[in-house]
Amino acid sequence: MSKLSQRHLLGIKNITADDIELIFETADNFREVINRPIKKVPSLRDVTIANVFFENSTRTRLSFELAEKRLSADVVNFSASGSSVKKGETLLDTVNNILAMKVDMVVMRHASVGAPHFLSRHITANIVNAGDGTHEHPTQALLDGFTIRQKLGSVAGKKIVLIGDILHSRVALSNIFALKKLGAEVKVCGPLTLIPKYIESLGVTVEPEVSKALAWCDAANVLRIQLERQQLKYFPSLREYTLYYGINRKMLENLDKKIVLMHPGPINRGVELSSDAADSGHSVILDQVENGVAVRMAVLYLLAGATA
Ligand code: NCD
Repeated sequence: MSKLSQRHLLGIKNITADDIELIFETADNFREVINRPIKKVPSLRDVTIANVFFENSTRTRLSFELAEKRLSADVVNFSASGSSVKKGETLLDTVNNILAMKVDMVVMRHASVGAPHFLSRHITANIVNAGDGTHEHPTQALLDGFTIRQKLGSVAGKKIVLIGDILHSRVALSNIFALKKLGAEVKVCGPLTLIPKYIESLGVTVEPEVSKALAWCDAANVLRIQLERQQLKYFPSLREYTLYYGINRKMLENLDKKIVLMHPGPINRGVELSSDAADSGHSVILDQVENGVAVRMAVLYLLAGATA
């Protein structure tokens, strides 16, 4: 297979295991490219990509921009703050105006669930979802899966636990879809108030105790408490959260094996991860960031081919 089954990347839910394998194989090549002295290839010359960010971002936005530039695409950046969105323009009008300037692809982050899905029904450019509210963040799950494959040899058959705010995390949902499609065993761990009731219908199991989750897993993906999305009080205090769910180096050293410790960033040091855990030999957090560029290059390259 050399083409994706979709012309947009809206979520992992919409793509197949073969699509994911193709993205990984393509990313293997781009990883080699970005480690060369000359990091640029001409693959997307004459393709114009707009990064349209209605929500804050550091890593994801920089990572997409670098991926686009390393593929020789022309790049325009838009962020909602400082734009006419503040003057009351609709999402569709904003994007149609950008497209009228002959943009071929839109990478979009938006606080509303389904915003990129809505756009995909109204515009012809390829759309990449860079995070829609609490819903999906497909390229993060792809780079997480790619990192697990790099560190553990494969995703199939591996035991992966997602720890933290499962209820509000788009990284959690996209990871669950990706890891299950690739044949991993998946558990979620966190305060039961932050674990959705339907979670087991996605084929994952719940482990409320973090020490048991760590002892079970091959890799742990630790998620940030999404305080900005929490309308209610889901746990008494951050101190209490850290006491029961925070991970520190001692907990990792007490395990009888070395696990792969992941975090999508931004880390709240001292809340979900202590600094000595985040900076320990278990941590692959910066490998995730490096892999993010190669994986996003693969996604953009393959989607551009899907229009041909
Ligand atoms: C994540 C996000 O924005 O969903 N971060 C990221 O993309 N690297 C996770 C988070 O904000 O906690």
